[in-house]
Formats: sequence, C-alpha cells, structure tokens
Amino acid sequence: MVSLRRSWFATIGLAALVLTACVAGPAGATHTTAPAAETAPPERPGVELRTLDRVDIPELHTVTDGDNGSLVYAVLPQISGYDILNDQVKAIAAEARERSTGTHRGHRPPRGLVNVSWQALGSGEDIVGFLLSSLVGPGAGATVGERSVWYDAKAERLLTWRDLVAGPAQDGVIEDVLTELRRDVVFADTERARTILQSGDPVVGFSARGDLVLGFGEDETAAGSATTRFEVAVPDGELTPVGLRARQATLAPRPLAPAPAPPPPEPPRVDCRKDACVAITFDDGPAAGTTSRLLDVLAHAKAPATFFVLGTQAQAYPRVLARIVADGHEIGNHSWSHPDLTRLDARAIRKQILRTERAIEKATGVTPTVLRPPYGARDKKVDALARTLGYAEVLWSIDTRDWANHSPKKIVAAAAKARRGSIILMHDIHPETVDAVPRVIAKLRKKGFTLVTVSELLGASKPGKRYYGTY
Ligand code: NI
Repeated sequence: MVSLRRSWFATIGLAALVLTACVAGPAGATHTTAPAAETAPPERPGVELRTLDRVDIPELHTVTDGDNGSLVYAVLPQISGYDILNDQVKAIAAEARERSTGTHRGHRPPRGLVNVSWQALGSGEDIVGFLLSSLVGPGAGATVGERSVWYDAKAERLLTWRDLVAGPAQDGVIEDVLTELRRDVVFADTERARTILQSGDPVVGFSARGDLVLGFGEDETAAGSATTRFEVAVPDGELTPVGLRARQATLAPRPLAPAPAPPPPEPPRVDCRKDACVAITFDDGPAAGTTSRLLDVLAHAKAPATFFVLGTQAQAYPRVLARIVADGHEIGNHSWSHPDLTRLDARAIRKQILRTERAIEKATGVTPTVLRPPYGARDKKVDALARTLGYAEVLWSIDTRDWANHSPKKIVAAAAKARRGSIILMHDIHPETVDAVPRVIAKLRKKGFTLVTVSELLGASKPGKRYYGTY
C-alpha cells in the first residue's frame, strides 16, 4: 500500500535561518529548548522534491515585482496565454507580501521583507508545475513559505494533491503523513496539518524516484517548526490520470504547448454603415415593475436598447441592472440623482458620475462609456469632465415626450418620425411607455430600420464629444 519515507527540508542558505527561528520559537510550543538539528533523526535524507534544472517552455518568462520601499523582491514565472496559472502565481506572491505586514505568531510584526523565488516542478505538453518559495521577515524572525502551483492545460484548471491521487487512496496518504508528523517533535500542530491535507493546498510534487511528495511551509504549521516534506510512495494505480501526467512531467519533462489563441472576437451583429440603424433609449430607471416588464417585451421582440440609469436606482435594483446587461442591452450613465449638472461645481459633477459608475460596475461588471446628462443639460464644464472620465455624451434626436403625454398613441407617433441614425428618447419608469414599446418596435421595423444600442449606432465614439444621432 502506501509506504512513507520522511524527508527533511534543509536547503543550504535557508537552513541557518530556519534553525534560528526554531530556537526563537514562542513559549507556547512544547519543545523550544533544543534546536531542530538536535531533535532531527540523523537518518533524515535530503530534500526529495524533484525540481527541474532546465525548463524548456517557449512561452515562459518571468516578471519581477520589486519594491524598495517595502523590501519586496519577487521573481515570478508567467506563461503567455495561461491566465489562470499566471493569476494564481501572482496571488501566491501577494499572499506572501500580506504575511509580511500581518502579525507574526504573536511576535511584533517584522519589518516587511519578502523574497519570492520559483523553480519548475514539472513540464509536460499539457501540464506544468511550479514551486514558489517565499522568505518573509528579516533575519531570525523569517518564515519560509512554500506553495506549489500545478496547472492542467487540457482541463484549463489548477490542481491540488487530491487531483493527483485517486479518491480511495487519499485517506491513507493523509493518515500516514499525520502518523509521521506526530513522531516529529519539532512539528507541533498535527491538527493544522490535517486541515491543510484535507481541505487545503499543501505543496505537492514528485521525488526523483517518482514518489509523491507532500510538504508544509513553516508559515502553515506550528511555531518553531521548519518546512517539512513527506515523501509518499503511491502505486501507479492510485494516481489519477492527471496524477500520472504530473509525474511524467516531473520525471521526463517536455515543453508545454503554447496556449491556444483566444477565439476571434464575435463579428458585430450589425453594421450601421450598411444598415439603417435606429437606437431606442430609456432613461431614469431601473424601476420596480416597469423595467422588468419592458425587458420581457424587448426579449420577446429580440430588440436591443440602451438604458441610461440613475445611480440611486442602480443601487436599489442591482438584479434588474444585471438582467439588462445579460439580455444584451447597453447601460449608460445618467448621473446619481438627476440634478442639472450645469448648476454643480466640477467636484460635484464628478461625484454624480463616478458614484453611478461604481454602482453599475458592482451590479453588472460592466463600465459604461456613454453619459446622458439629465435634461440634456450640458456645458463646457460638463463636456470637459465627460472627456476626462471617458464618456461620450449621448443626447437624442427624437423626444417622444412620454414623461408628459403618458399616451402610447402619441409615443408611437413620435417614434415613427425616426430617420436613419436617430436616437429615440423614452423612459422605462412609465407604464404607458412600456405599453407603447411593442408598437414602436413594429413601426420602426416596418420602415426598414434595424434596432441597435447607441454604441452600435455611433461606432467608435469619442469621450467628451456630443452625439444626437448619426445624421
Ligand atoms: Ni432623465
């Protein structure tokens, strides 16, 4: 079954720091009187985790995250096109940086000193593994952290040790590691180790013999313990297919295949240079009831629209906002509380726009690029701020006056005056407007118009520029 050999991490250069840290362990640990070197069994072999001397990955490059102010120095591996892997590597470095500023086992927090370095654990055509080592804190207070990152390029996902070992064999591996841990007097907290094994992400790799290696960083275990690795012989039948691929990538590395090219952007659903486009727009929502009903109408008619929303409403109805985007409509910024922007100072205008922008982003993940000033009231000051904040100003060429007439008949008649390139103004807060929309859409289509969002109508719009339509 699972046999276990224990290995002891004592990398030259780190060893001195690690041992000093053990001596300086807090009183809570039961075994702080003897340095680790004296308690370590003499038969402990050297480091068994195999790392690659050479990495042959064409797309591999490193990024350096240096910061003299906080004494951070990180060299991180990145592979072009493998964003999930790259993000995870950066997240681990960020975590080490956070550790440097957090509390340090009840000690006074060390002055931030972070050093992150990496080695490759394995490289196959569709799998790659890295070991990231971080040294956090100065001198005797330093802790050694280790994390491994395995990425399955075929499944496009990160792997933990549990992905490599078949389910029924996992419990045996955990119990064997814990048994050994309990014999290890410098490793105080076996329950913490159990948690890491069961639900966390211990270091995982393979030895030169091909046995699975699990490891705990000093930062993950008890005070005074040093980075410890355990080598577990797992028979072939107990490794998963991806586990076998990881082992193969360690023992017989091959270049990782370049990431597949991202899919080409979807062709625009309409070309307003060829088609006679018209944009219908709805202001002042989203509102309870009317906006949702309007979205049903638009979905049924398969008609896109643009919603210039108020920040107050966006904050109140984030789900309706999310549906607007999910249904393929555009969202524009209509200020936070509908003031006449020309009567505000620059700071207040900026606040009106940015607060709304944040509410829209929070609800939808989308950053709006079109602004409709309330009442269409704008001046040079508003234009300049729109430009600075990245907004094209979108006014209108047809006002249905739905807010005044509340008459579906009049709304339809006004909309029917649209020409190619018109932007039609309506409000999704009035029930009569929603009642009119099916006939508005039918009328416009009957005249040969294609309904589009304002950004589709305008094509490449410029921040700070004003648009009333495209004629
Ligand atoms: Ni308005």
